[in-house]
Amino acid sequence: MLILGIESSCDDTAAAVVEDGRHILSSVVSSQIERHRIFGGVVPEIAGRLHVESISHVVADALEQSGKALEDIDAIAVTAAPGLIGSLLVGVGFAKGLSLSAQLPLIPIHHLRGHIAANYIAHPTLEPPFLCLVVSGGHSHIVEVKDYCDMRVVGCTRDDAAGEAFDKTARAMGLPYPGGVYLDKIADEGSSTAFKFPKARIEDDELAMSFSGMKTAVVNTIHNMKQKGEELPVADLAACVRKNVCDVLIEKFLLAAERYGYKRLAVAGGVSANSELRRRLDKECRSRGYELCYPPLELCGDNAAMIAAQGYFEYRAGHTAGYDLNASASMNIDASFDQ
Ligand code: KG4
Ligand code: ZN
Repeated sequence: MLILGIESSCDDTAAAVVEDGRHILSSVVSSQIERHRIFGGVVPEIAGRLHVESISHVVADALEQSGKALEDIDAIAVTAAPGLIGSLLVGVGFAKGLSLSAQLPLIPIHHLRGHIAANYIAHPTLEPPFLCLVVSGGHSHIVEVKDYCDMRVVGCTRDDAAGEAFDKTARAMGLPYPGGVYLDKIADEGSSTAFKFPKARIEDDELAMSFSGMKTAVVNTIHNMKQKGEELPVADLAACVRKNVCDVLIEKFLLAAERYGYKRLAVAGGVSANSELRRRLDKECRSRGYELCYPPLELCGDNAAMIAAQGYFEYRAGHTAGYDLNASASMNIDASFDQ
């Protein structure tokens, strides 16, 4: 079965053709990063406009590169939640129009379910159940993937997401947007013991996370150093932030695995590209005899191949939508689009 996937939830316009949820025929990602960089972050209004400009070209390119025509496609999967509403609406509107004109089923996809599905492409034998750490710019979730379309969040952040904490502290260090990527690179040159930043403990929920206290401590440290005219030890700051965030993510993820009895683990989302997270989780899982999957770097960030992959499983479960489908800025991963 051939699915055309469309993704426009944040600052990437993407389209892809994927066969049977596992095999990529084409994957096109048009990044808006350069247009947002001068603002130090994504400007929602600009993101929406840029999606409008590029979506039809991106979809046409994905079809052309797949060697397939629209007539060969069996269904259209589109990210319908969560994300920036003005950005989501462009993809959803385009997908609805195409689905109507080509008479193809329309499959709404939850963006985080898409991130998880990137692992099905990368690991053809991976099947639920498994436990997935979903870490992106907007979310930090520990998700029980009981089946392809049956999930439960067992732990999540109470405030900032891991990616957001990386991006905001990186910005204070003067690193370019998106900060997480640059922070990860420069951290390799620093000492992770140079500073001690706080780690929040949430009394009533051992699997809950919080990164805003650390973020404030880092920003204050930087502010104080700047006021004293001291040069910022950016590599050391980056190494300490990276270690702090990884410590929390790894501790909670392994605790959840133990508590719920999972030996098959996966990581997904933009932050799953983090080199320290991958290295340390690999080691921890090997020593415990756990199986660990993460996507290749090109499938960690936002892309449409992961949306088409999840689309295949949602379609098999009968999860299609009518033309009254609407985009939604927020939605739980375990919710259904027809509720
Ligand atoms: O999944 P994603 O592409 O978009 C969202 O759905 O949010 O994730 C983007 C996030 C950004 O916060 C970015 O800084 C972070 O992923 N990121 C990284 C790395 N690469 C991307 N964070 C840490 N280390 C990286 N290597
Ligand atoms: Zn994402």
